[in-house]
Amino acid sequence: MDASTPIPVSSQSKSKREHTKPSDLSHHFNRVTRERTASAIKSLYKYFQVPGMVNLAGGLPFPGYFPYDTLESAASTPGRFPPNLIQQLNKPVPVIPTSPPPPPPPQNSSHLIIPKYKPGGPPGSSIDVATTLQYGQATGFGPLAEFIKDFAINHLHGGRIPYENPGILLTCGNTDGLGKVMQMIAERGDSMLVEEYTYPNAIQTADPYGVSMAPVKADSGGMLAEGKGGLRDVLENWDHRRFGRRPRFMYTVTIGQNPTGATLSLQRRKEIYHLCERYDVIIIEDDPYWYLQFTESSHPKGTQTLPINSTKKRYPFLEALTPSYLTIDTSGRVIRLDTFSKSIAPGCRMGWITAQPAFIERLTRITESSTQSPSGFVQAMVVQLLRNIWGMDGWVKWLEGLRAAYEARMRIMCRVLDAYQESMVVLESKEEDSVIVDKVRMYSFDEPMGGMFVWVHIHITSHPAYAAYLSRGHTKREMMTQLWKYGAEKHSSLSCPGWVFGANKDIQEDGSAEFFRVCFAAIEAEKIENATERFGKGIREFWGFDVDEVENCCSADSVMGAQGKEVVWGLGYGGFGC
Ligand SMILES: Cc1ncc(COP(=O)(O)O)c(C=O)c1O
Repeated sequence: MDASTPIPVSSQSKSKREHTKPSDLSHHFNRVTRERTASAIKSLYKYFQVPGMVNLAGGLPFPGYFPYDTLESAASTPGRFPPNLIQQLNKPVPVIPTSPPPPPPPQNSSHLIIPKYKPGGPPGSSIDVATTLQYGQATGFGPLAEFIKDFAINHLHGGRIPYENPGILLTCGNTDGLGKVMQMIAERGDSMLVEEYTYPNAIQTADPYGVSMAPVKADSGGMLAEGKGGLRDVLENWDHRRFGRRPRFMYTVTIGQNPTGATLSLQRRKEIYHLCERYDVIIIEDDPYWYLQFTESSHPKGTQTLPINSTKKRYPFLEALTPSYLTIDTSGRVIRLDTFSKSIAPGCRMGWITAQPAFIERLTRITESSTQSPSGFVQAMVVQLLRNIWGMDGWVKWLEGLRAAYEARMRIMCRVLDAYQESMVVLESKEEDSVIVDKVRMYSFDEPMGGMFVWVHIHITSHPAYAAYLSRGHTKREMMTQLWKYGAEKHSSLSCPGWVFGANKDIQEDGSAEFFRVCFAAIEAEKIENATERFGKGIREFWGFDVDEVENCCSADSVMGAQGKEVVWGLGYGGFGC
C-alpha cells in the first residue's frame, strides 16, 4: 500500500479496551531494514545460558580478567528531597539543596555494591560484575529490561496500551533511540512532521537521511490538530509537487516540550492520533520530561487519565500524569522514547523504546549491529539501585520528589520573569522640555506545564528602535542576536536564542527568532533568582537603546569574550546541553 494514501477511518476503528493485535505497519520499513537479518552470533546466546553448557563458541573474554572486582557507590535514598517540598512550593523561595551540596546525612544515602560473582539465579541474570560487564543480549541485561518493562507497561502506562504484547528495547538514551528509529524507517525524500519549534537534535538526526521537516503549528497546549497550519491542514493540503510524498512519520515532544514547555492534553492527543490513523502516520513520541508535569502548579488534576486494565499497584503520582500516546494506540503506530537522562543522569546514556513487537524486532536487529546494548557498567548500577535498593515504590517516590524540586525552581524563575516584563520607555518628545513616557511590555511567557524550560517571547517588534534598525538593512534575527549578546556580555546571563529551535529556515528567521529559551534546571537553585534578574535587567536596558546603541551595544563577534570577564550564568544555551 502507498503510505501516503489515507486509510478509511472505519477500517481502523477497534474496540478500545480489548487487547487487539497491532496493525501490520511493515510497509514503513525502509529497504535496508527489510533486508536486515538477525545476528548469527547473538542467536547462540540462548545456549550460553543453559546450565552445564561448556561455552567454546562465544568470543567472550574471561571475566576473571576484568580489572573491576566490585562496582560500588554511595547512592541517594528515594527520600532525598525534603518530604514537605510540595507544601513549600507555595512559599516564595522554597528550600532546595544548596550548592555545593552538603554531604548527605547518612540516613539519606545507601551503599550500593555489586560483587564480582554472585552465584545462584538463572544463568546470565546475576547482578554481578562477571555477568553485567560481559557481552550480553541486544535487548539489554535481563533483570533491568524486566524491571523497566514492568514499570513502563504496568505502572507508567498503567496497563492501558490497547494492543497485545507491547515490547521494550533498552537504548543508549533518546538520541540513540531516535537515531535507530530513523535507521528503521527514513527514506531519502521523506518529510517528518514536527512542532514548528522543535528540539534541534531531532532535525539533525533526520536530516542526513534526506528527511525534510514539515512544521505543524503549536500553541501553549502543544501541537494543533485543527486550524490553519494545524495537523489536518498540513496533511490534507500537502503539496506533493513541491514537497514530495506526504509525511509518513511525526516527531513530537508532548510533555514539557523542548523548547516551549507545552504539554499536550489527552483530548488533543486523540484528535492528532485520529488524523495519524487516517493518513497512516507513525508517531515518534520523544518524552524525556514525562514525570516533570507540574501538576501542583498549572496542570488540571484528575481529568487526564483513561480507565485502567492493570491489576498492579497504582501510584497516585503516575495516575495524575497526562497519558502517553501509547495509551490510545489501537493500531501500534506509536514509537515511544524514554530516557534516564533527566531522572538519573545524562551520562548514563540509557533509555528505552516502547512499541509494537514488529518495530521492536527490527530495532533489536539494528541494535545488534550498532551499540549492541547499553554499557554494562550503567546497566549494573541502575538495576542494582532501582530494583534491589529502591524498588518500584522507591523509584516512583524519587521521581515525585524530583518533580517537586524542579517545579520549585520553575516557580522562582517565573516569579522573577513576571516582575521584569514591563519597562518605561520614552515614546516621543513633543516639545523641547516635555517627553511622553509609557509603560511597555517587553516580553511575555506562559508558565510551563512541564519540563525544564521557559519559552520567553520577546516583543522585539515593539522595541522603540526596531523600525529604524531594520531600515538600516538588518533583520529581526540580527536584532535579537544583539539583545542575546548584550545579556551575555554585559550581564553574564546566557539564554538560548530561539532561532535554534525553528523547524526550518523561514521559522528560524521569523517566528522562533522572537524567543529565548531559559532553563531553570541547570544551575544551583539559589542562583536562579539572581540569574533571571540579570536576564530581565539586560532586556530592560536594551529597551532604552536608540538605533546606534542597538548596533554598537556588544562585540561584533561571539559571546566568548564575556566568559573571561566573569562567570556566565547558564540559563540554557544549547551548547552546554540540550
Ligand atoms: C526533547 C529531547 N529529546 C531528547 C533529548 C536527549 O535525550 P538523551 O540524553 O536521552 O539522548 C533531550 C535532551 O535535552 C530533549 O530535550
